[in-house]
Amino acid sequence: MDGNGRWAKARGLSRTLGHKEGVKRVVEMLREAKKLGIKIVTVFAFSSENWSRSGKEVNKIFSYMRIFLDLYKQELLKQGVRLNMIGRRDRIDEGSMKKLQEIEVATANNEALLFNVALDYGGRWDIVQAAKKIAKDYKTKKISTDGINEAVFSNYLSLRDLPDPDLMIRTSGEERVSNFLIWNLAYSELYFCPKHWPDFDKKELAKAIDVYSKRKRRFGKV
Ligand code: IPE
Ligand code: MG
Repeated sequence: MDGNGRWAKARGLSRTLGHKEGVKRVVEMLREAKKLGIKIVTVFAFSSENWSRSGKEVNKIFSYMRIFLDLYKQELLKQGVRLNMIGRRDRIDEGSMKKLQEIEVATANNEALLFNVALDYGGRWDIVQAAKKIAKDYKTKKISTDGINEAVFSNYLSLRDLPDPDLMIRTSGEERVSNFLIWNLAYSELYFCPKHWPDFDKKELAKAIDVYSKRKRRFGKV
């Protein structure tokens, strides 16, 4: 979800107002995804690298996230959305973590749509934390060297045994993966939309899915 800051700047607004608008789009996208029968949505809400922004901006991002969680908790429950946070849990402020965990627990049995929110997430961090867990399990003899393969390794990553993403959408015209789910995106179709995230509406989502549906996925075969 890229381009909140540029969207705001282009309108003479503060960057933080771009994040406020961006949060609204997340809710709309979730409603739309559910309508379209999409089962899993993963958003890159805050990267490990985003800590380098000003304290004011970081605080605002988390404050809008908390407001989002308060406002939409009931809707998430009603719509059967399950919230799952992926990323480091030890650097985010206590208030935000408490709210996130509370909603994870409240929505744990929902099955209509899985909503993964990547917060303080980095794809390389994910691979390293998986390697550390494997090393621990090796030490306690839960796993052997020969027991490590791609499927087993995947299970130690944040998204565990979930299917790999079919489609990755990045907005704002940047054409990079920027340390998102680097392992899981190995065979995903990439779609880059020139619009900034606050301008990404259901028409844009439909366009992305239309483009995706015309792609030929070969997974290395001919
Ligand atoms: C994406 O918008 C939201 C977050 C990273 C939290 P940006 O904040 O990256 O907006 P630009 O890229 O500066 O326009
Ligand atoms: Mg950006």
